[in-house]
Amino acid sequence: LWAVDNFLENNKKQQMIKEAALWIKKGEVIAFPTETVYGLGANALDEQAVRKIFEAKGRPSDNPLIVHIAEAEQLNDLVLQVPSVAKKLIEQFWPGPLTIILKKKEAVAESVTAGLDTVAVRMPDHPVALELLKEAGVPVAAPSANLSGKPSPTNGEHVYHDLKGRIAGILDAGGTGVGVESTVLDCSSDVPVLYRPGGVTVEEIEAIVGQVKIDPSLKSKDEAPLSPGMKYTHYSPNGSLTLVRNRMQIPTLLEEAKSQGKRTGVLTTEENQDFYEADVVVSCGKRSDLATVAHKLYQSLRKFDEEKAEVIFSEIFPSEEMGIAIMNRLEKAAGGNII
Ligand code: TXA
Ligand code: MG
Repeated sequence: LWAVDNFLENNKKQQMIKEAALWIKKGEVIAFPTETVYGLGANALDEQAVRKIFEAKGRPSDNPLIVHIAEAEQLNDLVLQVPSVAKKLIEQFWPGPLTIILKKKEAVAESVTAGLDTVAVRMPDHPVALELLKEAGVPVAAPSANLSGKPSPTNGEHVYHDLKGRIAGILDAGGTGVGVESTVLDCSSDVPVLYRPGGVTVEEIEAIVGQVKIDPSLKSKDEAPLSPGMKYTHYSPNGSLTLVRNRMQIPTLLEEAKSQGKRTGVLTTEENQDFYEADVVVSCGKRSDLATVAHKLYQSLRKFDEEKAEVIFSEIFPSEEMGIAIMNRLEKAAGGNII
């Protein structure tokens, strides 16, 4: 574990980042912070190294990874061409939480893309991540650094909890900023298609490139998702989670669960947290500022496991701006269980 928080002297921090980069160059796997969530990185051009990521996470091999780069020029080593729409988006949002999918070049390791002819790429907006990528000198394939199925890690302890003993090291820079993963946008055809809502909102993207298509599965459970990873249940706490459209029903639901002898939990916000009587009440930020909810969402979901909640009810959020990404993650965490 390399602790590279802000209190550390710069030269010590750099030494640790160099050491982590060395492991990447040697074909090993290390965890590192980004502005969204922690990533689990390996050399994207080294097939053996990339396979270790899938092993460490227990990730299904048909789920492709995002490749992280420090300079926009590195994109040319990974993709066949960069259409003008993609160029505009890169100009506006990199470094930042926008992942762009383009037609891939041969050099990208086979398992990074799970056999697809496209590759997902982003430039993270985090000083430690950028420094690490520069030191490593290679593009770094990295999924979120959690065990498959669990909420993504938003601090070093989450990574340690999930992956200790399974990877070469963790660069720990404390909590991440955005808190939910990057937006995944397919730019390999004429009109961009949103595969995963995330840190850059649809409204922000449309302001730059006009209307984008939305993967139909994001709106209807009956559609199969266009992106392989979106079909998996994710982010799930151990207890059963139900999303409740009308929060006034939550107290009755809690009573029922308690009468069955269950340990209860509620996921709520600062505005409403005094309203519920449950064993575990977790506030995930301010409803009036959805960025705070995104920031705290995964640590809040993990809290229910720490406190051993068995039956959990959650408020819902408006489907606009950051609310779209928040609801997408909550729906997955609840396995579509919404009343
Ligand atoms: O914020 C993030 O994006 C974080 C940090 C570490 O950068 N990474 C992350 O990676 O969330 P991961 O592996 O948990 O999610 C990657 C998503 C998956 O849903 C995957 O299916 C999709 O991107 N994806 C990757 N390559 C793809 C491709 N070529 N075509 C379609 N979907 C792709
Ligand atoms: Mg993930």
